[in-house]
Amino acid sequence: MCGIIGYVGHREAEPILVEGLRRLEYRGYDSAGVATLTGPHLHLRKRAGRIADLARFLRDRPAPGCQGISHTRWATHGPANDRNAHPHVSSDGSIAVVHNGVIENYAILKRQLQDAGVIFDSDTDTEVIAQLLEQHYDGDLVDAVRKVLGMLKGTYGLAVVSARQPDLIVGARLGSPLVVGVGVGEHFLASDPAALMGATENVVYLQDGQMCALRADTWHVFDNNHIRIDAPIHRIDWDPIEADKGSFEHFMLKEIFEQPEALENAMRGRLSDEDATSHFGGLNLDARHLRSAERFVFTACGTSYHAALVGEYLFEELARLPVEVEYASELRYRNAPMDRNTIVLAITQSGETADTLAALRESKRKGHHTLALCNVVGSTIAREADGGVYLHAGPEIGVASTKAFCNQVSVLMMLALYMGRMRHLSSIQGLRMLKEVRALPGIVRRALDCHEQVQEIARKYYHVSNMLYLGRQYLYPVALEGALKLKEISYIHAEGYPAAEMKHGPIALVDGDTPSVFLIPSGGVADKVMSNLEEIKARGGPVIAIACDGDEELARHIEERADDVIFVPQVPEYLQPLVSVVPLQLLAYHIAVLRGCPRA
Ligand code: M6R
Repeated sequence: MCGIIGYVGHREAEPILVEGLRRLEYRGYDSAGVATLTGPHLHLRKRAGRIADLARFLRDRPAPGCQGISHTRWATHGPANDRNAHPHVSSDGSIAVVHNGVIENYAILKRQLQDAGVIFDSDTDTEVIAQLLEQHYDGDLVDAVRKVLGMLKGTYGLAVVSARQPDLIVGARLGSPLVVGVGVGEHFLASDPAALMGATENVVYLQDGQMCALRADTWHVFDNNHIRIDAPIHRIDWDPIEADKGSFEHFMLKEIFEQPEALENAMRGRLSDEDATSHFGGLNLDARHLRSAERFVFTACGTSYHAALVGEYLFEELARLPVEVEYASELRYRNAPMDRNTIVLAITQSGETADTLAALRESKRKGHHTLALCNVVGSTIAREADGGVYLHAGPEIGVASTKAFCNQVSVLMMLALYMGRMRHLSSIQGLRMLKEVRALPGIVRRALDCHEQVQEIARKYYHVSNMLYLGRQYLYPVALEGALKLKEISYIHAEGYPAAEMKHGPIALVDGDTPSVFLIPSGGVADKVMSNLEEIKARGGPVIAIACDGDEELARHIEERADDVIFVPQVPEYLQPLVSVVPLQLLAYHIAVLRGCPRA
């Protein structure tokens, strides 16, 4: 995930830009760079690799000046090397651009520019923007950016400087977040407010289609009709202490251990014994409308999509409501028939994921009531949905989503209770659920006791090239999530499957070097999962089982067959995703650390 930070003011820009990039480091990247200005001279410094490599390079060749832009890049167009690192500069060396997002029509634009004699220096889509800006610059950078944006198809969070107007940074946003940091005699531009921590607490969130022009003493925002507007300033609700790693080596581990507290925050003030249900302030739908809802569509990406799949089981079991779960990247382009009484629920940690935002907007366009579960307060999706629920997980800095998943599932659980109580759940059932849900933070705390055992298991398997994650019913989405965590953090190929699907082909993958992680439920289909486990053992595949404690006979049976068993606390089946996911998060983390992967 790429990051942007820009600065214009009275101080040297380079240290501010490098510090801002360090604050964005947690998102992962493979190259970084800065461009600063001293009068008409543009100083470009960029390097593949870590920010430490860029900082070393800057020690030998400092980038002077009190204004500049910088970037951390994850390669999308062209390999991760110095040439493809941002900023990208126009052929005449006067304009520098950093960009998050994807320019979908870059190939056509590039060909047109090359036909006109422009020589390109990189393989990126972003360089097209720099070259177009050179062609369209006519003394006014804001105007040139505006013209060029009209030619682009795709998404962007953009920061631009020109050696011909060295007191100015121009920013633009479409589908990729950008915030202005408002200071005194200095202004900042960033793709994530986290980059501004310690610099300013006052930010202006740009909306899609908006542009900004920043100078040391002024900041202006323009709407998509190019009219200057009064954009509101927000104070960042961000506790710097929370963003510190504390005694943990990595944010991911810290956030895994924060899950019990995150759960407490998600539940605070939302559970009512009096009504034997849960309450939410921001749904903006009255009980009559909710009762007439006939179907929900949950839409999300990645980990949030897996939480949505758990939500599907919860809603169907507890609220008896049909749910369809759709990848946001698919829903946005689909034209599926949906009747009027369908509510669309977008689930997202950041509230900025482009596909989820597009799916939400498309659903609104079609007249559906939209809700969002978001973690980041004031994010675009939180603002644009008709109503919603905040996750209250606290800042999630680690690139791997952990505590946000936990809170997404718990909020879906509370929503399912709320919808269920409106329909067919009795008050006795409601009260029993409240009791079980309230116990969750303590139970997840106990689940974390498996930490050292998981570390041992990681040592056994960190060298493998493939892993399988298998579960059924509530634990099938958890299997998908375990596999995603491992892929994302440790770069090991992993697949999640419904355990019974293995025999329909994928079992051919199993051999002595392909461990399978089995998620064994406490009730229901436990016996069936055990027969799936036998199938894997029959092919010589090592098995790591995650099972609930408390059922001695089942425990003995599992211990006889699995190579390793991690016991987690016994909970009713609908709560199992929240305890079973914990060892999977820890396993991905420890395997990544043992493999020396930087994204943990
Ligand atoms: O911010 P969102 O929840 O919308 O992000 C969606 C995915 O990009 C995200 O969950 C991703 O899959 C995680 N990094 C996985 O750990």
